[in-house]
Amino acid sequence: MDPGAALVEALASRGGPRLPAVEWHESIGSTSDRLKDLARAGAPEWTAVLAERQTGGRGREGRTWQSPPGGLYLSVLLRPRSEPASLVPLAAGVAVAEAVASFGVACELKWPNDVLASGRKLAGILAEASSGSAGVEWVVLGLGLNVALEASSLPAELRDGVTSLRAEAAREASPEAVAVAVLARLGVWYDALREAPSRVVAAWRERAIPWWGTLVDVRSGAAVLRGRLVTVDDDGALVIEFSGGDRRRFVSGEVSRVRQAAAS
Ligand code: BTN
Repeated sequence: MDPGAALVEALASRGGPRLPAVEWHESIGSTSDRLKDLARAGAPEWTAVLAERQTGGRGREGRTWQSPPGGLYLSVLLRPRSEPASLVPLAAGVAVAEAVASFGVACELKWPNDVLASGRKLAGILAEASSGSAGVEWVVLGLGLNVALEASSLPAELRDGVTSLRAEAAREASPEAVAVAVLARLGVWYDALREAPSRVVAAWRERAIPWWGTLVDVRSGAAVLRGRLVTVDDDGALVIEFSGGDRRRFVSGEVSRVRQAAAS
């Protein structure tokens, strides 16, 4: 059986979402670029594209996502209707955290979309949406998860900041098995978005790095703004309070903790 069909079958047997079509590539530029083409051509919700490696993997903020063999490179198409599209990335983060936990690895979520284990990056999520006059038409969720990645296959400057499921877990997992686990949990949390969005945000907050109340820098475009991290609000935005008491919401950006010496 080809890996795509095996994935569909494994998911169905776990009561997960029914995938109408799955493309499995040995090598591709970017699974998300391919899926965006399919989305524009009218592909149905839950169409998925996976690859064993990517030659043009993309991360957030225009960064490159190194994609050698040994990682899971998965993109899945959603077409939110009553589901709040702004919360799809948070639902995905919770789904990934739970999937990873099912392989015995505890992880933390860092706004907006990093999945960390032992303080190192285990996975990243890239959510790309297209809107028309009626609102959001589709969201392509791209997930890169380091399953059995060898640090030596990454550029030297990335090695210290990255971990893998193999390094963290007591037992081996295949990218296929991880994909099934992630998609099964995503099905659950996507349903929750429709029924009780606040439950998704609460679940995300529970798994977040507990930086609440601490001083952080938020890089948004060219600006870096410093303030105390208040919360991630019910729309998934990061809320910061500045020293004068003013608050600001961020819907995108990069957050990092201010170290003690720099804070004083
Ligand atoms: C991040 O910057 O943390 C997000 C990384 C997302 C990478 C995944 S790998 C599958 C999909 N295809 C891409 O080109 N990017 C996403």
